[in-house]
Amino acid sequence: MNFRKTDINSVSFSPAKAIGDNWAILTGCDGDGFNSMTVSWGAAGVLWSRPCVFVFVRPSRYTYEFMEKGDRFSLSLLPEGLHKKVAVFGSKSGRDCDKYALSGAALGEEDGVKFCAEAETVFLCKKIAAADITPQWFLDNGIDPANYGGSDYHRMYIGEVTAVLRAGE
Ligand SMILES: Cc1cc2nc3c(=O)[nH]c(=O)nc-3n(C[C@H](O)[C@H](O)[C@H](O)COP(=O)(O)O)c2cc1C
Repeated sequence: MNFRKTDINSVSFSPAKAIGDNWAILTGCDGDGFNSMTVSWGAAGVLWSRPCVFVFVRPSRYTYEFMEKGDRFSLSLLPEGLHKKVAVFGSKSGRDCDKYALSGAALGEEDGVKFCAEAETVFLCKKIAAADITPQWFLDNGIDPANYGGSDYHRMYIGEVTAVLRAGE
C-alpha cells in the first residue's frame, strides 16, 4: 500500500469507530528499535493549540519501554475487518515474537517513524507530554475496579501530530 502525506484538516473520522471499534496500532520508536501493539483507547484532538494524539499504555507492555525511551510514535488507524489479521498485536508481546512476521501485516516507515501499513490513516507523532494515571484521577468510583484492580495503571502519552499519512492516494 502506498501512503501519502495529507493535510490534517482533510482527515475526517469518528474516533469511537476508528479507535474503539476498528482498533489502532500504536508503534513506539526509540531510535534503535520499535514495537507495535493494539490500542482501542485513545483520542485525537487539540491541546496547547497543537494537533495531538492521546494514547494510554500500561507499564507492563513492551511497547511502554519504547514510548518511554523514544520521543517518536505512530498511531495507525485500521480499516474495518482487520481484527483477525492483527490479532497477535493485542495478544502477544513483542518481547517474545515478531508480530509483523507472524501476522503478515505490512510495516511502513516515514520520517524515521515505523507504522503499521495496514492502516487507512496514520498519525506520526512527537511525544510532548506524559502523565501517569493514578486512582486520585477518578471522579467515578466504577473506573478503578472495572479497569485496574490496584495495579498497572496506564500512562497517558500526548503526541503532537507531525504528519498525517493516508493510504492509497
Ligand atoms: C482490542 C484491544 C485493545 C487494547 N488496547 C490497549 C490500550 O489502549 N492500552 C494498553 O496498554 N493495552 C491495550 N491492549 C493490550 C495490548 O495490545 C497487549 O497487551 C499487547 O500484547 C501488548 O504487546 P507488547 O507487550 O508487545 O507491547 C489492547 C488489546 C486489545 C486486544
